[in-house]
Amino acid sequence: MTVIGLGAMGKALAGAFLDNGHPTTVWNRTAGKGRELAGRGATEAATAAEAIAASPVVVVCVLDYDAVREVLGAPVPVPAPAASGLTNPAEPGDVLDGSRTPGTPGTPDGSLTSDGPGAPGAVAGLLAGRTLVNLTNGTPRQARELARWASERGAGYLDGGIMAVPPMIGSPGSLVLCSGSPGAFAAHEGTLSALGTVDYLGEDAGRASLYDIALLSAMYGMFGGFLQAVAITGSERIPATEFTPLVVSWLNAMLTSLPAMAKAYDANDHSATASNLEMQATGFVNLLETGREQGVSTELLEPMGALLARGVAANRGDADLSALIDLLRTDPAQDTDLARDTDPGRGADFAEGSDPARATDAGSRDTGSHGAESHSAESRDTGLHGLGSHGAGSRDTGLHGLGSHDTGSHDLGSHGAESHGLGSHDARSHDARSHDLGSE
Ligand SMILES: NC(=O)c1ccc[n+]([C@@H]2O[C@H](COP(=O)([O-])OP(=O)(O)OC[C@H]3O[C@@H](n4cnc5c(N)ncnc54)[C@H](OP(=O)(O)O)[C@@H]3O)[C@@H](O)[C@H]2O)c1
Repeated sequence: MTVIGLGAMGKALAGAFLDNGHPTTVWNRTAGKGRELAGRGATEAATAAEAIAASPVVVVCVLDYDAVREVLGAPVPVPAPAASGLTNPAEPGDVLDGSRTPGTPGTPDGSLTSDGPGAPGAVAGLLAGRTLVNLTNGTPRQARELARWASERGAGYLDGGIMAVPPMIGSPGSLVLCSGSPGAFAAHEGTLSALGTVDYLGEDAGRASLYDIALLSAMYGMFGGFLQAVAITGSERIPATEFTPLVVSWLNAMLTSLPAMAKAYDANDHSATASNLEMQATGFVNLLETGREQGVSTELLEPMGALLARGVAANRGDADLSALIDLLRTDPAQDTDLARDTDPGRGADFAEGSDPARATDAGSRDTGSHGAESHSAESRDTGLHGLGSHGAGSRDTGLHGLGSHDTGSHDLGSHGAESHGLGSHDARSHDARSHDLGSE
């Protein structure tokens, strides 16, 4: 194995390979970070090229895709402009070289057409016949572009999302979502399992990233909520350690509602609710007011308040919170062909749902046109690994989708409990604290 990138995560990955008896070569941009691993038996390469040449499997885990491209000498395509000012201002289709200087125009589809001048062909040329396993966090589009680039250079490509923090790597609680070349996965699944539980999500190199980003989105929602909660109680000098057990048990209680919301979303039937949107939108104003009264920023809360209000304005006031999901879609036309194949009706409904005015129609139109039944039947037939296909289909093939993930060792309770310090994150304490909450 070769591991490129010896930050907190790269070191943990290399350590797990060593612990499992795999000869491991390591390289890091800044020298000296491989010393401890060398003491455990790793070979330190002097250059990235030397590291790549050393092994048939090259794992890259650096900060971001720009760093990946710098290391591999791959060009950097410019993303399409986004509304926020956070992305690169250059024109879509431009290709930036490895040094991130605006370069010559690229292909209209933003594909990576040539090797960048930074580290270059010499490094990229070494990839032929090897498998590149990129465990760097990025977007589905970035993963697909790099997969294409690697394939054009004769390399197998696997993209991965690490759903773990470094101390978890190597334990069964460490989940590595993986997608890309089926042949490469079949050949190296055993080796990769040194990192923990590896879930293969299919041939689309972008799928692992899609899941990774979706899961991180859920995680940041939770962490953002926690930060707000502690800031609110902290404004009255309540110690966070005193209040946090209540947060943990409350979030655990609320987690139990997610499967029902998912079912409502898949069935496009948001009618079953004990907590309708209008009630929630009304109550949510108090979260904002309290923030203002207590001198706590409402910046994390405002978007959710706006979305609730949009749901009510779209005549969904009597619906469940799950009705808001469709309102989040800003460009349903971007549904991938894969998604459309899985559920042809979905795209049309999203198109309506993304527009508050048209969402009104969607709300009153519980036609069941893409109900759970047809949705899952389709995906089972195709064996696709979309959210809808994580039922019998993925289990039949022995693959681990979120569906099986839930029932396996990666259930929410066990997955984070140990390493994230959520010691009270078990059913027993959850129940107890929930009752406390109820009586308080
Ligand atoms: N840590 C986590 O909890 C965690 C969990 C899941 C996924 N991840 C993902 O794992 C990846 C690595 O995270 P980390 O925690 O290891 O980050 P980190 O500790 O900050 O290390 C970053 C690594 O990237 C390298 N790097 C940055 N820019 C580079 C460049 N231009 N060229 C070459 N190397 C470059 C750094 O090299 P230098 O030493 O030379 O700076 C270092 O090895 C990220 O994509 C992260 O999102 C992390």
